[in-house]
Amino acid sequence: MAIQKVLIVGSGLMGSGIAQVCAQAGIQVYINDVRKEILDKAVKNIAWSIGKLIEKGKIAEKIETIMSRIRVETDFLTATQVDLAIEAIFERLDLKQEIFRKLDEMCRADALIATNTSAIPITELAAVTKRPERVLGLHFFNPVPMMQAVEVIKGAVTTEDTILKGREFVLGIGKEPIMVRRDVAGFLINRINYPSTMEAMRMVEEGVGTVEDIDKGLRLASGRKMGIFEIGDMVGLDVTYNALLAIYHETGDPRWFPPMILRRKVKAGELGRKTDRGWYEYHEDGSRKKK
Ligand code: NAI
Repeated sequence: MAIQKVLIVGSGLMGSGIAQVCAQAGIQVYINDVRKEILDKAVKNIAWSIGKLIEKGKIAEKIETIMSRIRVETDFLTATQVDLAIEAIFERLDLKQEIFRKLDEMCRADALIATNTSAIPITELAAVTKRPERVLGLHFFNPVPMMQAVEVIKGAVTTEDTILKGREFVLGIGKEPIMVRRDVAGFLINRINYPSTMEAMRMVEEGVGTVEDIDKGLRLASGRKMGIFEIGDMVGLDVTYNALLAIYHETGDPRWFPPMILRRKVKAGELGRKTDRGWYEYHEDGSRKKK
């Protein structure tokens, strides 16, 4: 079964990016969210991003052709038609499990159900369905249209056939699959990245270095394109916070507990670019100033 129709639940930063790359690859996409206004905003963002890629000569197809492959919905009626559903809602186990139950009920028996979770175990989502062998992780990176890697994650009872289909789907949308053979906390890339992210936060907390200097140092000394805090603002401080908390609950290991500076910022609503304030402060014209 080649994947031709995909439902994406959650049309935020990640869901809209995933919808975009699917549509660019010729796949029929349905996007679901809780409110029509949110979906309208997602469609506008996708069109803007595709327009930029066309301007740069990276896509040959017409914008209208690509956009015609995207439909929006607020109920789950299209779930019956799809080969794959990808959940990309808030990073909360209870909410994600609710969506998994609904998708399991609505999707065809042979359809795959995937999650884009940053850190919630795939197995805990698979467990609420009657098809745990057809549940997998497809972890995209932000910004989705630019980042080539997608982790393909095996839950405890995901079959090899499901994993191979997931891998083929990732290759089919022009991305590179990174195979994660066991359902471990943080998967592969975040398990490596988060400890340095937390260390950077603690160094700011302890007054060892500033946000700006740490980012500058990482760009100039480690060959990174962006600093840890610049990425953190793009990802969303709430997303990192919830992912760390999920790993902490899963492992019981205190080293994963979100640093205080992150906890405070999330409580204060300083979530990064989406709230114009996070590790840095952002202006309407897109420029940034240090806090
Ligand atoms: P976001 O906050 O931008 O978008 C989440 C969307 O889900 C919102 O539009 C919200 O209205 C919708 N939603 C919430 N509950 C819903 C429900 N019951 N039914 C339908 N839609 C619902 O979040 P973002 O950043 O796109 O993250 C989504 C997922 O992707 C999270 O699990 C996150 O951990 C993961 N992720 C995020 C990355 C990032 O850089 N932001 C990177 C990789 C994974």
